[in-house]
Amino acid sequence: MRPPSSAAAWVSLLLLPKVLAHPGLDDVLLALNKLDTAAAAGCWESTELIGDLQWLNEYDLYPTARLIRDVLRGEASGQSDEYNYHVPPLHSPACAYDTCCVWQYIADDMERAFRERNGECNNAARGAVRLGFHDAAGWSKYTGQYGGADGSIVLAPEETERQVNAGLREIIDQYKFWFERWRHHGVSMADLIQMGANVATVVCPLGPRVLSFVGRYDNWNPAPDGLLPSPFDTADNLIEIFRAKTIQPKGLVSLLGAHSTSRQRLVDPSRFGAPQDSTPGVWDTLFYKQILGPSPASVFNFQSDLVLSRDPRMFPTWKAFAGPNGQQFWDEGYAREYVRLSLLGVYNINNLTDCTRVLPPAKRSWGPEGW
Ligand code: HEM
Repeated sequence: MRPPSSAAAWVSLLLLPKVLAHPGLDDVLLALNKLDTAAAAGCWESTELIGDLQWLNEYDLYPTARLIRDVLRGEASGQSDEYNYHVPPLHSPACAYDTCCVWQYIADDMERAFRERNGECNNAARGAVRLGFHDAAGWSKYTGQYGGADGSIVLAPEETERQVNAGLREIIDQYKFWFERWRHHGVSMADLIQMGANVATVVCPLGPRVLSFVGRYDNWNPAPDGLLPSPFDTADNLIEIFRAKTIQPKGLVSLLGAHSTSRQRLVDPSRFGAPQDSTPGVWDTLFYKQILGPSPASVFNFQSDLVLSRDPRMFPTWKAFAGPNGQQFWDEGYAREYVRLSLLGVYNINNLTDCTRVLPPAKRSWGPEGW
């Protein structure tokens, strides 16, 4: 076997034998080739700027946009532990003056809807995380300034009714209800969806407290069709679908961990409700471990997760998340990448407001001693 020609390939070579115990030498060589090509192109990390950040000058950026730019470039954290301690009464002038005030009331409402009695996160929380993904991911670099995190998954009936969104009907009804309750406070559906995804994530024990911004515009027209991934697609296609959204393989590994809290219903209806790891109410790293095998019989693996976890472009990060300290690596990786995802198709990033402080506190330990 020829020696690998990059540091990344060397690291991965040390890790490869465990996951590629069965494939033959040809598979390993093929894997190393792909590693070398990707590493040489320097294209594993998502660092591309998006929206109006692509053309605004440094001195035109407000502080929030600077923070977002730094997160997108991997130079700042995508999480924060800042809290809102003194929230004015909802109908007071002080509340009307503070953009984030109403969001504290909304986030509290959402938290109640997403938490199970035992402290874990529930079906509505899973739905909210996936809704955030499906709204934002209806955008690509190659389809112009249409779609993205613009609320259209709820506002445009044609998009709601697409087969790929069939599992989201219940949570969409919940958002219609919240929109009716809060729209008179100047709240957009696009922001409700992305704030909801972040509230749901942090309500799940061990979930990160992802930076949460408001000020997105709504769109009543459907996003371009065909931009969401299928659980039956090949690793190459799935990686390309996400690259077209400026999300590189490391970022995709991070985002896929959301399947740590998911339950399938429509891929195999005979196993309705089967989870993708054995702790679907907790944002832990078991998903990364169990898909590498062995997986308990109660767990349902998506074909897409199986092929991606074994792809050499994904495997080193996958293995790091499954290993010691994986939770910390993953929480940060997810937070950074979700900030990116939640801003796809947003072209007024420079006017957004950081309302992360309204999120519930993160629960960083879990188990008999953690609750
Ligand atoms: C290759 C990319 C992906 C594919 C092919 C995929 C596919 C799927 C499928 C088929 C389901 C089950 C739907 C059902 O049967 O009801 C599902 C559930 C879910 N997915 Fe993904 N997904 C991908 C990426 C993501 C990402 C990036 C996120 C979030 C950031 C995400 C979050 C979720 C969540 C939370 C659920 C559970 C939804 C619920 O229980 O209602 N997925 N996904």
